Amino acid sequence: MSTTPFLIRAAQAKDLDALTALENQSFLTDRLSRRSFKHWISTDHRALLVAELDGLLAAYILIIYHPGTRLARVYSLAVAERARGLGIARSLVIAGEQASRDNGRLYLRLEVSVDNTAAIKLYEALGFQKFGLYHDYYEDHRDALRYQKCIRRYHPMLQQRPVQWFRQTTRFTCGPAALMMAMHSLDARFQPTQAQELTLWREATTIFMTSGHGGCHPIGLGLAAQQRGFVAEVWINQSGTLFIDGVRDEQKKQIVQLVDNCFKQQAEQQNLPINYANITQDTLFNALQNGALALVLISTYSMDRKKTPHWVVVSGFDKDCLYIHDPDPDDQRQSELDCQYIPIAREDFERMSCFGKNRLRTALIIRTPDKSRLSGDFLA
Ligand SMILES: CC(C)(COP(=O)(O)OP(=O)(O)OC[C@H]1O[C@@H](n2cnc3c(N)ncnc32)[C@H](O)[C@@H]1OP(=O)(O)O)[C@@H](O)C(=O)NCCC(=O)NCCS
Repeated sequence: MSTTPFLIRAAQAKDLDALTALENQSFLTDRLSRRSFKHWISTDHRALLVAELDGLLAAYILIIYHPGTRLARVYSLAVAERARGLGIARSLVIAGEQASRDNGRLYLRLEVSVDNTAAIKLYEALGFQKFGLYHDYYEDHRDALRYQKCIRRYHPMLQQRPVQWFRQTTRFTCGPAALMMAMHSLDARFQPTQAQELTLWREATTIFMTSGHGGCHPIGLGLAAQQRGFVAEVWINQSGTLFIDGVRDEQKKQIVQLVDNCFKQQAEQQNLPINYANITQDTLFNALQNGALALVLISTYSMDRKKTPHWVVVSGFDKDCLYIHDPDPDDQRQSELDCQYIPIAREDFERMSCFGKNRLRTALIIRTPDKSRLSGDFLA
């Protein structure tokens, strides 16, 4: 490697022109605009580093931190042609890893075009491991390889279930979208559609929740899963009417209570087991290890500062983290990849999986009745 000296520093507003010019020279599609650079220079939740060579901007790396999780993502990296082969990209990625570590991140992820040999060699040389392929990822329809590096520990031992991700199509259908992910992943014969999403919502909704449409009740979701031939088990850590505190209007409160009662009666009639207890992380792990999937209600506070009840799927775990599939990208800039296998540190998950002032903790575990039908094995 060359010993040509270069300087790495944080990007500043004065770099905007040079960054935009470098971007346009480096990429034919999927370019960051000047406006995007301006945004990323002024915002938190990111590391935007540049390299200067002979006093001129020669390269940059943009790493975005996913709020509320331990995940960081290399959003973009480019080195000017005149500065390539000098080890600048390598130094920028290493500096980006350090910045991410300093920010409490455990994993760095990225996507790279399947034909970008230089970048693939760079990432593999730096210890990134391939963990997936994403079809039709770029604007010009090229496929992307997905890479991940555990930046805190040597051996991550990630165990994950292959869970297909689906985006919720309305603000209030996180429950159905999460349930569809789980049901499809357990049995591919179940095909998610928007019609299914809405049907599930109509079966499981509390009718009202906070100030808007109702979200889904854990028992409602459990009954809906059972109705479709899955084996379901509900966990709720309290016996009163769920979600009633968030509703102000007395008439709405009565309706929420009536719906809650109906779900409990139906659960009894249809032998849906309800455990009135706090579900522990160990119970979740055991369920996953035994071929089941779990939906968990979280509060979105740590992710978006709004205290919204939100259903997600637990898609994996390791010693430090639980991994979730979130059906709702919370930001226009988030890709669906950002919503899959999101690492949440165990202690953060404990806080996140409680909702409201009553600290409601609820989950739904579902499995197929015949275990031989499952794909079973965890990915290493
Ligand atoms: C990919 C890119 C960032 C590499 O930048 P660079 O500063 O030249 O890379 P480095 O000098 O730090 O090289 C580090 C390692 O990357 C790999 N690498 C870099 N360029 C390579 C090439 N042309 N062919 C094969 N491997 C290459 C090598 O493993 C190299 O290590 P080595 O020198 O010990 O062999 C640069 O070519 C670039 O900006 N390309 C266009 C934009 C782009 O593709 N960005 C990545 C998007 S994911």
